[in-house]
Amino acid sequence: MKKTIILLMLLIGISTIKADPITIRISTDQTDLVLQTGKNGRLFQLYLGEKFSSPSDYTNIPLKEKTDGMSWETYPVSGADSYFEPAFSIEHNDGNLTSILKYVSHTSKKIDNNVEETIITLRDDLYPVEVKLYYTTFAKENVIKSWTEIVHKEKKAVSIKQYASSMLYFRNSSYHLTEFSGDWANEVRESTQQLNFGKKILDTKLGARANMFVSPFFTVGLDQAARENEGVVLMGTLAWTGNFRFTFEVDNLDNLRVISGINPEASHYVLEPNEVFKTPEFIFTLSNQGKGQGSRNLHRWARKYQLKDGEGDRLSLLNNWEATYFDFDETKLAGLMKEAKDLGVDMFLLDDGWFGNKYPRHSDTQGLGDWQVTKNKLPNGVPGLVKTAKEAGVKFGIWVEPEMVNSKSELYEKHPDWVIQLPNREPYYFRNQLVLDLSNPKVQDHAFSVIDNLMTENPDIAYFKWDCNSPITNIYSPYLKDKQNNLYIEYVKGLYNVLDRIKAKYPNLPMMLCSGGGGRSDYDALQYFTEFWCSDNTDPIERIFIQWGYSQFFPAKAMAAHVTSWNKDTSVKFRTDVAMMCKLGFDINIKELSKDDQTFCKDAVKNYNNLKEVIYDGDIYRLASPYEGNHASVMYVDEPKDKAVLYVYDIFPRYADNLKNLKLQGLDKNKSYRVKEINLMPGKTSKLSCNEKTFSGEYLMKVGLDLFTKDRLSSRILEITAVGL
Ligand code: DGJ
Repeated sequence: MKKTIILLMLLIGISTIKADPITIRISTDQTDLVLQTGKNGRLFQLYLGEKFSSPSDYTNIPLKEKTDGMSWETYPVSGADSYFEPAFSIEHNDGNLTSILKYVSHTSKKIDNNVEETIITLRDDLYPVEVKLYYTTFAKENVIKSWTEIVHKEKKAVSIKQYASSMLYFRNSSYHLTEFSGDWANEVRESTQQLNFGKKILDTKLGARANMFVSPFFTVGLDQAARENEGVVLMGTLAWTGNFRFTFEVDNLDNLRVISGINPEASHYVLEPNEVFKTPEFIFTLSNQGKGQGSRNLHRWARKYQLKDGEGDRLSLLNNWEATYFDFDETKLAGLMKEAKDLGVDMFLLDDGWFGNKYPRHSDTQGLGDWQVTKNKLPNGVPGLVKTAKEAGVKFGIWVEPEMVNSKSELYEKHPDWVIQLPNREPYYFRNQLVLDLSNPKVQDHAFSVIDNLMTENPDIAYFKWDCNSPITNIYSPYLKDKQNNLYIEYVKGLYNVLDRIKAKYPNLPMMLCSGGGGRSDYDALQYFTEFWCSDNTDPIERIFIQWGYSQFFPAKAMAAHVTSWNKDTSVKFRTDVAMMCKLGFDINIKELSKDDQTFCKDAVKNYNNLKEVIYDGDIYRLASPYEGNHASVMYVDEPKDKAVLYVYDIFPRYADNLKNLKLQGLDKNKSYRVKEINLMPGKTSKLSCNEKTFSGEYLMKVGLDLFTKDRLSSRILEITAVGL
């Protein structure tokens, strides 16, 4: 009797004890993302913002956990009680479209002093579906990566219809989205709009050349439009070389929901039991000092953790594309190699047009896919070219486009089933070419062999330019048969498989990512590429805008910029000064330049080499936006604040321009700096009153220098060095 009473009391006691909420704190040195379980066992976002000095403070925040559409569920699922865009949606074997994910467990582990990984497991009570949420934090850089893994044990495959990488909530007075959109030769045009009730979607469904119209990154200014040095700014990007989608939804209570991931359009992925589906990483930083600090966070993180050879050097080069297009032979190339040497660059890069025999690649209409050298054009083959480059004293790099094929090619004749094309309709061609079906392992072998064969025959090839000129059209994979919904995703996975193999076999091989200009620029691809080609548009005026746009997310060493003949109304100096903001190259017939211009270019290469450590690895400060006036200015400062490079451009100044001093940033106010103008035309001396003078860092930052002029399309580069170095 006594025992029964005690048991009864125990049972009553247990049932009245409420499980304590589980709180998960995901932090960098600057930011806290705090998640908490609700009474219903589901997981919600409690807080995202500037880091709390005392963690106990966030326990006072009320959890938005009501089981209705207004709750801030970390990974909201469609069908049950969510009123807004879900992060996850799945069709179960019984046709049911609803899931509810509950917290199961989590782990956090330090990878090293700076990096920590948190994994949270969620599960559905009714269906054998599990989702793992991953968060990796980079404390010093203030960057967080988040992605998910989805797995199920239903009897048959399920169709997953939404599978975001990340969902974040904000509650601010207003939200201002900056997108980076445009077109071929018009990449990353910045435009900002305030977000009001409803959704704004940034997405692409172009497959291979995914960001031809819009780039996989964005900025959201919270409470005010994002500014360079003040205010809270979210900067995010998806590491995925394929279709992406960012959904920005302002709900009925004026909360902002940001959902990032693969674009599920035409990609309701068929997931087999026990197969793990990993979404791409969404990478973000929350800066409290505007987008300038946000960019510096991302650049530092990228150099240290993501970009191929992120902390290493880069090769300057002379490319033949604009100097010759398809019209070259061994003599012409040998001449260009000598010019490269004379110019002082590290490498000669041979572009499109060196391959194909049955269908020689004399234009973009044929030959793509046939990666054998055109014998009657280059009788000594690639080994001959490598040898000539060596004799000239420069390294040799070469262009390839392994993912593509012309229908006029031997590859197409042999393997029409290797091509993405509809079995029952006429193909739609983009630049006369079709995309190979990289979901097929045999095609992956082919793409790998393009690099591998060249490297096996020519181990001294120092560099590849990997191009990708067409989006995926005619979406049908002969290989995937009844899993056509998986094609866009399997394509990207196939590409990564190829790139993984290349990286494993040739770990130190630098490569440029190119996609008909800047049609690809994402941080997953950049694990395999040392740099990307920002745009085919090398008109320096346009490039100031394009490089300004990309610089929000990518460090200078990742952005290839070449001096070309675009816009001959601008001086060679202006063109060079603009290209020197990034990873410098030339794509111009040097012999056509005046003697002075040739001398100038050689000096510029020397100056660049002297300063490239600061340009490549320094912190960026964007001082004057081309979007806000007739001038632009950017500077890089090295970590000890001893050395800086300053770029000043006058684009189309007006007579009425009231020129103001340019205030520098990022220097040490207690140091003295010597200011010297470099990149002057031969025989010219600096007109700047500050030239060769010394100023305190404080003066340079508080008063600034008189550097802008009213001279149309003029530019100046200044080297700034701490005195005593
Ligand atoms: C597009 C690239 O952007 C150009 O630089 C050049 O490599 C051509 N393709 C070659 O076809």
